This record gives sequence, structure tokens and C-alpha cells, in this order.
Amino acid sequence: MSLTTAINRWRSRCDATLSQWLEATDSDPRLLDAMRYSTLNGGKRLRPVLVYAACSALGGDDERADGAATAVECIHAYSLIHDDLPAMDNDDLRRGQPTCHKAFDDATAILAGDALQALAFEILASDRNQSADARIEMLRILAQASGARGMVGGQAVDIAAEAQQQSLEQLQRMHSLKTGALISASVALGGLSSGHADQDALEALQQYAAAIGLAFQIQDDILDIESSTAELGKTQGADLARGKSTYPALLGLDGAKQQAAALHHQAVAALAPLGERADYLRQLADYIIQRTY
Ligand code: IPE
Ligand code: IPE
Ligand code: MG
Ligand code: MG
Ligand code: MG
Repeated sequence: MSLTTAINRWRSRCDATLSQWLEATDSDPRLLDAMRYSTLNGGKRLRPVLVYAACSALGGDDERADGAATAVECIHAYSLIHDDLPAMDNDDLRRGQPTCHKAFDDATAILAGDALQALAFEILASDRNQSADARIEMLRILAQASGARGMVGGQAVDIAAEAQQQSLEQLQRMHSLKTGALISASVALGGLSSGHADQDALEALQQYAAAIGLAFQIQDDILDIESSTAELGKTQGADLARGKSTYPALLGLDGAKQQAAALHHQAVAALAPLGERADYLRQLADYIIQRTY
């Protein structure tokens, strides 16, 4: 099966699980509308796709990965809603639509993000395809990657670093936290959800994920300069306008592209011990640095 076919199948599985959970949630209609608006609205679903691809690389069936895939997308969607708020990046456009706080209001957007974060952990904790021990380990990994030592910690550095010059080391750390941590968690959760994870395989996956996670944010920074608002579905040039610390700002476009290429190389090298089973993960590494939106 081609990667494109696999991606389409995985996206559908994730969207179906997400819809079921949101349909089953009895809550304030406006809050639920905002949660649906910010999740069932396209998006590349890269993190769920990485969960399924890592699960399949270790010989697991797709259904074992459904819970983790849906949970990471809930955390991601929540992070985007809050990232776009006026107090953060103050963006008006996301996935080609008005951002959540523009379509609803700031309070609803904050609450929709909060609720999606909690939903992620509820989905993982309720995952009947996983043993109780596996669920606890997966909850721990996702909580750590999402919080102060992961995505939220990176977002705090990002906001503090506006209009400031960071060293390459600081920039790498910020990117690895704000974006890399959730991407690494997606790959780790995929590996664990297979039910066949051994220490060597998890180590190979972890090295792969650290490299693609950083490369993904570098490419996001590059696209902010090189792509268009229509193609991105978010406002092009937003980083420059807010004086964000980015790889192109520090290294120039060519320097940023070289870093992304070097990380791609590292990611592919890390997969060597997994053999052919990891072909989807290899192709996803290509996709991450070649993508145009
Ligand atoms: C955007 O993530 C935010 C970053 C972490 C760079 P994506 O580019 O994966 O956004 P969607 O999910 O496809 O909208
Ligand atoms: C966002 O980084 C990282 C998150 C944790 C959401 P950006 O601020 O660069 O993401 P975009 O460009 O708004 O999607
Ligand atoms: Mg941001
Ligand atoms: Mg942003
Ligand atoms: Mg960006």
C-alpha cells in the first residue's frame, strides 16, 4: 500500500474516533461547537499518522493505535487554539478558517482548548485495546510531552523570546519542546501501542522522532517565509511580523534548509535497525521536509 493510501486510511480512522467521542460528549452546545470546529476541520493529522506508522513498524494492528492517535490530535488541536489567541500569536486564520477565538470568542476558545486537553487523557485512559500498565505509561508520556517540560514549556520560551536574539542552542531547545515533544510522544505512543515494543526498537524510534520533530518546526518556520496564506491556511509572514525567534531568522533560509536536511538524514539513519517495516516512517521523514503547507 502506498503511503498516501495509508495516510488516508489513518486519517479516516482518527476522524471517526474523534467524531464518536465528541458526539458522545454531553455538554454546553457552544463549547462543543468550538471543539468540533477546531478538530473536525482538516489539518494534516501528522501526529496521528505517526502514531499509526510507528505502531505498524513494530507489527501492531491499526485498531491498537486508534486511542493514542486520537489523543495526540486532541492535544495538538488544543495547542493550536491557544497558540492563536490574542495573548499568544494573535492569529486570525487557521486551517483556512477563522481561528477559534475569531469564530467564537476568547473565553470559548480557551475553554475549548482546556476541554480538548482533558479529553485526550480521557481517551487514553479509556483505551480498551491496551492493558492497564500500557495505559498508565502512555498517559505519563503524553502528560510529560504536553506540559511544562514539553509543549507548554516550549511555548513559554517562544513568547519570552519574541523580539530577542536566541543562540542556536536555545532555538533548538525551544523548537524541540514546543513542537518536537508532541511529535516524539506520538511516535513513542505508536510504538508502545503495538504491544510488541522492545527497548532497542523504542530507542530507534525515539532518535528518529527527535530529529523529525525539530525538522518539522524548522520547515514550519521556512514555510512562514516561502509559502502563501492560501496554501498554508494560516497567515504567511506572521513570524516576521511578531519578531519570532526562528531558524531562518538566525541562520537565513539556506542555513535553515541545511539544518532540516541534516536532521532528515539523522532520522533515516536512526531507523536502520527496524528494517523494511519502518518504510512508512522513512517516507514520512521525506514528507516532513518536502511539505509545502
Ligand atoms: C502547526 O502544526 C503547528 C506546529 C507545531 C508547527 P501542523 O502543521 O501539523 O498543523 P495542522 O494540524 O496540519 O493544521
Ligand atoms: C506552534 O508553533 C507550536 C505549538 C505548540 C502550537 P507556531 O506558532 O509556529 O505554529 P503556527 O505557525 O502558528 O501553526
Ligand atoms: Mg506560536
Ligand atoms: Mg502560531
Ligand atoms: Mg509557525
